[in-house]
Amino acid sequence: MSDVREISSPTNPLIKEIRALHMRKSRIETGRFLAEGARTIREALDNGTVPELIVYRADQRDEPAVTVVRKAAAAAGTALVEVNAAILEKISNRDNPQSVIGVFRQKIRSLSELDPLRAPLWLALEGVRDPGNFGTCVRTADAVGAGGVILIGTTCDPFSPEAVRATMGSIFAVPVFAASTQEAVDLLARWPGTSVGTALQGAEDYRQVKFRAPTIIVNGTEQSGLTQEMRDACGKLAKLPMRGRADSLNLSVAASVMLYAALDRLLPDG
Ligand SMILES: C[S@@+](CC[C@H](N)C(=O)[O-])C[C@H]1O[C@@H](n2cnc3c(N)ncnc32)[C@H](O)[C@@H]1O
Repeated sequence: MSDVREISSPTNPLIKEIRALHMRKSRIETGRFLAEGARTIREALDNGTVPELIVYRADQRDEPAVTVVRKAAAAAGTALVEVNAAILEKISNRDNPQSVIGVFRQKIRSLSELDPLRAPLWLALEGVRDPGNFGTCVRTADAVGAGGVILIGTTCDPFSPEAVRATMGSIFAVPVFAASTQEAVDLLARWPGTSVGTALQGAEDYRQVKFRAPTIIVNGTEQSGLTQEMRDACGKLAKLPMRGRADSLNLSVAASVMLYAALDRLLPDG
């Protein structure tokens, strides 16, 4: 069982270190990130990811949701830190902070760890900028049982509080890989199933696409879409018809429609 540490000063060095994790620089330097909420932290623990420490309000320590997380985390060796409401608010950076905040180690994999045959469906995101889009894609990837999400090129930080929040806990269930454009091109060249780039200039209507497992869906960046290099690397390009005034779909919406279209046809009874 872990010891419980009580901290009442907002200038305590540990509190400052935790708060600094809102800044990308500090996340890069420490390799750590924040995840908020009892449910999210419980999901992490259920998936075998143990927080290094959790912080919660001393006056909420016996609330059911906090108790469950506190006990499970303590049993797994997590350090427990009790604070007052004002400090938790400062750590959270939100007016209405969640009751528990966890500090976790980042886990990002390289493509050498990716075995396409491990799952029938995968998602790749080239240059995704918006942490909300990234998080929503990870959540959908989790929902369809995808093997992982591959980040290509320069992207938003997948471990920013906004990105983590948008995953709704799926960041702990879906492996995240990082790849340069060249590494992604090489992966697609040796991909054993179907690789589909989603693009407005796609050749095929997505309803006509034949998917063979493992299928990888490749989405482009919010501003300018898939680069020519990635378009060339994909086995086929698919478009979602745009019938109205809108000229494109939100990136995470397009990714979700494509993932479910592929899932439907890869696993018709799933
Ligand atoms: C906001 S869109 C980018 C729009 C950009 N102006 C373009 O020309 O591609 C972001 C990504 O979502 C996907 N996407 C959005 N709408 C789509 C559609 N109608 N058909 C296929 N993919 C789409 C593509 O992967 C695209 O790169």
